[in-house]
Amino acid sequence: MRILLLLGFAMVVLGQAPPPPKVFVPKAAPEQPIPFSHKTHVDSGMQCTNCHAIKPPGDKAGLPAEALCMGCHSSIKSDSPAVQKLASFAREKRAVPWVRVYKLPKTVYFSHDVHVRQAKAACATCHGPVGERTALGQEKSIFMAECMACHDQHKASNKCDLCHDTH
Ligand code: HEC
Ligand code: HEC
Ligand code: HEC
Ligand code: HEC
Ligand code: HEC
Repeated sequence: MRILLLLGFAMVVLGQAPPPPKVFVPKAAPEQPIPFSHKTHVDSGMQCTNCHAIKPPGDKAGLPAEALCMGCHSSIKSDSPAVQKLASFAREKRAVPWVRVYKLPKTVYFSHDVHVRQAKAACATCHGPVGERTALGQEKSIFMAECMACHDQHKASNKCDLCHDTH
């Protein structure tokens, strides 16, 4: 029965025209466990990929390890309460529970490696001018309509099973 329902979903939903585009409303920056300014760090000369290394299999850009932060912050601003909070996460080997800003449903497949290295898309195309932000909210849509519009523009496939795993 469950299989039939799933099959039904695949045939009815994925066999048809895509649903109407959703309207995107930019979201304010969520409160983070440690206030983190992209502007401060990018202005001091750091590259996006210093902190967001796109490693094989390349689907995630990922978030930086606390040890990486402490490479600087064991000396820089070590008297700041925010940095002391960071240091205690690092000491206890706990990941800072950052509140996520850009997140797709689990059923959608996306690869940073393909888009950044192969398609040469800039981070800002999908995430906005992150390096200018003192706090980061979702300012760009990652709804299906935006994926498809860019795929059309670049003559990339828009077959349903490119992004939705129906196997
Ligand atoms: C073509 C659009 C696109 C481009 C270009 C892009 N991203 Fe993303 N990014 C996304 C999407 C979509 C997600 C959500 C992925 C998910 O939830 O599976 C995301 C998620 C993230 C995340 C959250 C952690 C993760 O990996 O899921 C970080 C950090 C990130 N991107 C950084 C970057 C950086 C840095 C660049 C440039 C080097 C970049 N992105 C380029 C679309 C893009
Ligand atoms: C390459 C060195 C470097 C790395 C790596 C680094 N930072 Fe920083 N960070 C700085 C500098 C420089 C400042 C600005 C210091 C100032 O205002 O004098 C700063 C400022 C901060 C502040 C503000 C402190 C305050 O109270 O003013 C926080 C919080 C912070 N960083 C968190 C982080 C986190 C979290 C990471 C890891 C994701 C990280 N930093 C990685 C260099 C670094
Ligand atoms: C010093 C390390 C550092 C650098 C450099 C850095 N980031 Fe980040 N980035 C973080 C941390 C820590 C977070 C989690 C806190 C937050 O969302 O602000 C984050 C969050 C993000 C997110 C949201 C992830 C999600 O979905 O929750 C995106 C997108 C992103 N960064 C893109 C970029 C881009 C683009 C650049 C270069 C312009 C960049 N970052 C440079 C450390 C860094
Ligand atoms: C900036 C333009 C752009 C945006 C935005 C974009 N794509 Fe793509 N995407 C491409 C291009 C170009 C290719 C073809 C790359 C190649 O084959 O070299 C591609 C290929 C793909 C592929 C096939 C390659 C692989 O990873 O297996 C998938 C899946 C995909 N995109 C998913 C998405 C999703 C999901 C989104 C929205 C969250 C999205 N894309 C947004 C330009 C874009
Ligand atoms: C280039 C990538 C891509 C392609 C191709 C694609 N989708 Fe999607 N789809 C997404 C993303 C990303 C989401 C999640 C974000 C959203 O809801 O817009 C999504 C969500 C959906 C949803 C849930 C929407 C909702 O309102 O909750 C349905 C249904 C769907 N897609 C059907 C389809 C069908 C049918 C096709 C083929 C005509 C298709 N998709 C092709 C990326 C894609």
